[in-house]
Amino acid sequence: MRSFLVLLVVGLCACGVPTPTPGEPEAEAKKTMSYLRDVQPLVERSCKSCHTAGGVAPLALDTPEQVTALGPALWSAIDSGRMPPFFAASSCNTYENDPRLTDAEKALFKTWLDEGSPLGDPAEARHAPTPQLPVVRHDVELSIGGEFDVRKMNDTDNYQCFVMNPGNTSDLMVRGYEVIPGNLAVVHHVLAYVVTADQVAQLEALDAQDPRLGYACQTGGVGIQGATRNQVAGWVPGQYPSRMPADTALLLPANSRLVVQIHYNLAALNDPSVSPFDRTRLALETAPAGMYRRGQILPMLKPNLAIAAGDANSVQTLEVALPPAFRGATVYRAMAHAHQLATQVKLEVVKPDGSSRCVLDNPKWDFNWQRDYTLTTPVQLVTGDRLRITCVYDNSAANQPMVGGVQQAPRAVSWGEGSFDEMCMTYLTFAQ
Ligand code: HEC
Repeated sequence: MRSFLVLLVVGLCACGVPTPTPGEPEAEAKKTMSYLRDVQPLVERSCKSCHTAGGVAPLALDTPEQVTALGPALWSAIDSGRMPPFFAASSCNTYENDPRLTDAEKALFKTWLDEGSPLGDPAEARHAPTPQLPVVRHDVELSIGGEFDVRKMNDTDNYQCFVMNPGNTSDLMVRGYEVIPGNLAVVHHVLAYVVTADQVAQLEALDAQDPRLGYACQTGGVGIQGATRNQVAGWVPGQYPSRMPADTALLLPANSRLVVQIHYNLAALNDPSVSPFDRTRLALETAPAGMYRRGQILPMLKPNLAIAAGDANSVQTLEVALPPAFRGATVYRAMAHAHQLATQVKLEVVKPDGSSRCVLDNPKWDFNWQRDYTLTTPVQLVTGDRLRITCVYDNSAANQPMVGGVQQAPRAVSWGEGSFDEMCMTYLTFAQ
């Protein structure tokens, strides 16, 4: 795949060189680009996995007419780096299925646009494979158990935990998961954890105490000791169905339950057309125990953030000896998480000689695109390594959130679960 892409790029660059044709009228001679030959393969490779009829993105880019009609808007998204949504710095590491355009490819798109979007000769049409978004089989389908009325919660930011019973009486492995948020206007995140058989009675007691569907878990945890070390699924804005990397899978022990913590933010309810009901669902692709290596998803985070009011460049760093859970781990995948003030989230491995190896750097943090990145070459952590996480925040007056149409004044911000608090974390998917 890699060498194919390199060949494609070289090929496309050669196409960009004008071939003067003697005797051709000047206006015609200036048209060096062809949609079918030059632009179509770029759109197929970098945009169409999402921008297709029935796809996850709003605009279909299946035909030359569709692309031509949206030409300037597409260029704006490409030129600004908003699209395709892949924000891990390539100066840090390389990742699977990176759909970004090279500078030469961007220039080619712009030239095609400037030339009036010529269609070109069908005989020269070229295609590139469209990468498929991960597909997850729905072997086990679960839901929060009904329509949850979010108006039954009091705060703007609320955490409600729901119990799900996968019903497996023997150990299972989870190869992939898909969270289907029931109401995108209010669901800010969904995190699913395993609660083992010995803790089920405690979980059911918590659930029974709250007359609503699920139970309040306002501290941001789930109220069950150790459960958050056993994540099986997650969703944040910008996340698609997810498959476990390499030959790993997560363990779902016999007779366990899942506890699913949902962060609801009710700000959108000011708009009366927004539905107050949510029925978030979760699907798991499972396999019998023993077929895969056991993987885990664990956070590496910096607590105790101190972001001064008005500071436009607050750099928060934590460097620690390898936490026990990560000793001997091979890291396959990383994802960053922070809230709205963050501008950068970065994770590095610091070697005993002081040199560092970058795992993930999101240098233009965007809350709406928190996807995971699978490393082309997994990172092996060894004794003596340290982990360093760095988060940068813009807490200046110009970067404050709007509440009810009013921009807020800067205030000191620290670690917290609320949308106006901050976080500094990465989730690592690894196996021992
Ligand atoms: C991984 C999926 C994905 C890929 C790949 C992707 N997009 Fe998008 N795109 C989206 C989604 C989802 C939205 C709607 C959400 C939004 O507006 O932020 C969107 C919105 C847009 C928009 C309208 C909003 C804006 O920011 O301008 C444009 C234009 C766009 N995409 C162009 C492109 C182009 C051009 C490519 C390829 C170079 C591309 N996209 C690749 C998922 C994708």
